[in-house]
Amino acid sequence: MKKPRLVVLTGAGMSAESGISTFRDSGGLWDNYPVMDVASHDGFVRNPELVHSFYNTRRRELMAVKPNAGHSGLVELEKWYDVDIITQNVDNLHERAGSLKVLHLHGELMKVRSMTHPERVYTLTEENPDTSTATRDEYGDPVRPHIVFFQEAVPNIGPAMDIVSQADVLVIIGTSMAVYPAAGLVDYARRGIPVYYIDPNPAPVRDGITVLRTTATEGVRQLIEILRP
Ligand code: APR
Repeated sequence: MKKPRLVVLTGAGMSAESGISTFRDSGGLWDNYPVMDVASHDGFVRNPELVHSFYNTRRRELMAVKPNAGHSGLVELEKWYDVDIITQNVDNLHERAGSLKVLHLHGELMKVRSMTHPERVYTLTEENPDTSTATRDEYGDPVRPHIVFFQEAVPNIGPAMDIVSQADVLVIIGTSMAVYPAAGLVDYARRGIPVYYIDPNPAPVRDGITVLRTTATEGVRQLIEILRP
């Protein structure tokens, strides 16, 4: 029997309880780093070494943390739902928790790609998580973080819209809904399906969306009680 489709849109708040700081909460990443220097196309052109070291630091932070109960709760929902995770996060915590279908909108921290052949994508190991402007791939070409910088297109937004349009249930977790096109995905859900938004400090959303004003771990626990058959 075909399982109903549950689509989960996650943001930095999903990983907050794992110890990874969000971007826009006080003390967040963009309070400590000038975003346009370390996460934009122009910033990478201006000072690629700074950008490489920024992502090296974030990779080492990621290697020191693990998925939280929110991530594993989403895996539990796969018992009853065909679950697609669409995440703005570049961490690999959904995958490490066991989620089977994860679509990254803004890239993947543990990956780099060739600057001359962008289809050549490489996964870094915990033994060698660092890159620099001197790093070369097996063809001798320089590499860059496999991250969607500000000012760059979001190649996976089309597939993401398609997945959201097929959702029977839509859940949004831990995002300030501040960055487009990701923030617009909620508008691609069919009218009338149940939509839940889990966030302790939620952004304003349209009527009809059920807001669970709590953390990801507590919200996913409540969600399982609501959605389990
Ligand atoms: N559980 C759930 N949500 C939380 C928690 C928590 N424990 N702690 C904080 N939050 C919420 C905040 O209330 C906020 O709404 O997580 C959200 C974090 O918002 P942002 O820091 O703006 O992160 P996000 O929405 O993912 O940013 C989108 O912006 O900088 C770019 O590419 C970057 O993917 C990122 C995008």
